[in-house]
Amino acid sequence: MSTTGQDQTPLEGLRVGDREHFHDGPPHEIFRRLRSECPVHWSSGITQYPEEDGFWSVTTADDVLEVSRDWQTYSSEIGGFTGLKNAILPLELQQAMFIGMDPPKHDRIKALFQRGFTPARIAQHEDEIRAITIDVLDRLEGRETCDLVTDVAQPVVARVIGSFMGLSPEDDEVWANLMNTILGAGDPDATPEGAHIVMERDVPEVFRRCGELIAARREHPTDDLTSVLVHAEIDGERLEEHEIVMGFFLLMAAGNDSTKATYCSGMRALIEDPEQRQMVLDDPSLVPSVVEESLRMFPAFAHFARTATKDTELHGQTIRAGEKVLMWYPSSNRDETRYEDPDHFDVTRNPEHQAFGAGGRHFCLGTALARLELRILIEETLARYPDMTIEDPPQFVESPFANQLKTLRVRLR
Ligand code: HEM
Repeated sequence: MSTTGQDQTPLEGLRVGDREHFHDGPPHEIFRRLRSECPVHWSSGITQYPEEDGFWSVTTADDVLEVSRDWQTYSSEIGGFTGLKNAILPLELQQAMFIGMDPPKHDRIKALFQRGFTPARIAQHEDEIRAITIDVLDRLEGRETCDLVTDVAQPVVARVIGSFMGLSPEDDEVWANLMNTILGAGDPDATPEGAHIVMERDVPEVFRRCGELIAARREHPTDDLTSVLVHAEIDGERLEEHEIVMGFFLLMAAGNDSTKATYCSGMRALIEDPEQRQMVLDDPSLVPSVVEESLRMFPAFAHFARTATKDTELHGQTIRAGEKVLMWYPSSNRDETRYEDPDHFDVTRNPEHQAFGAGGRHFCLGTALARLELRILIEETLARYPDMTIEDPPQFVESPFANQLKTLRVRLR
């Protein structure tokens, strides 16, 4: 897909979620055309998953805001929270995570965690997160090249979320691999056997490993987030085992992949634009703005989905009850009615954006944690390696959902 504005693929009949559009990251040129020519666009299906339904693509920032805020019309529960209702994770398992529930149950489970994720509570973890980051960067001493995805981002984010969940450091890699496979399912490297392997092999493994953690905490409560799920009472009832496992899975998946993705894409943008990078090196107080600009330009999840609970209208388009709606953040975050020169990575922009969702009930729980991790990771990496260069062309995970690099090989000095 061209990014030069020359692409003339007919929009009618286009299937936006097909993997072919995501070889090199999100199809920005298609999204640009959709915003201007057909902002609420119908795809008749997903070619890789013929049993899945068609969906509406929502591409402008205003429309993403409207869908996000109106949970009564746009449910996260009845049709799954991504473009796929059953193809990778069956609907029943999606509905066991609070991201796949509607109020009131959603609100009650989310509330169990909210106090621990406020900016003030998260700020208390700064020293610990910096120590984890420094430890990981220390392991690069003596090396000339590395892969920022696997050698830096992955071990840092895995240890941070692992410490919140009460996991042993020795298990970080196993958990990270499980999360990467499940979130990247469909990518030929993540699941060479085909996406079905996730339900056959990986989800049972998550249940087995998590079952052990749950049993241990039933016996001896701990002060980690896994224990919060094990001992939670919602309306006087404990969560069922599969709800605990999937609650654990949600926090692990969200904590692992998203921050890693944003750090790597942000670092790539800095390395590829030495002028912008120099501005940050000269004035490190710009790092929080770099974080927001990275979130805007490279939202870690390309979409989340809703299903209409009744017939409704969006941007003049009728949407029928039961039809699926995908909110495409890589598009809404480059909406030219909100951003000047939206495809330009500008370290001074400090933008508002929709990478964490657009408000409403499902707004990301982990914003403060993600922002802190990203700030520390970027600060420490730039301080140590101010002039790293790209060694090989980076590769994207081929996925309409996980917007992330799978390799970012760099020369450190
Ligand atoms: C760069 C990092 C991150 C990005 C871009 C991101 C993005 C998002 C988005 C877009 C949503 C909204 C889903 C929807 O509307 O259906 C969301 C929800 C969520 N995020 Fe994040 N996230 C990030 C980091 C984290 C971290 C570190 C955690 C930590 C545990 C986390 C936990 C969650 C949870 C639990 C939800 C579900 C909230 C709900 O359903 O009410 N996220 N995230």
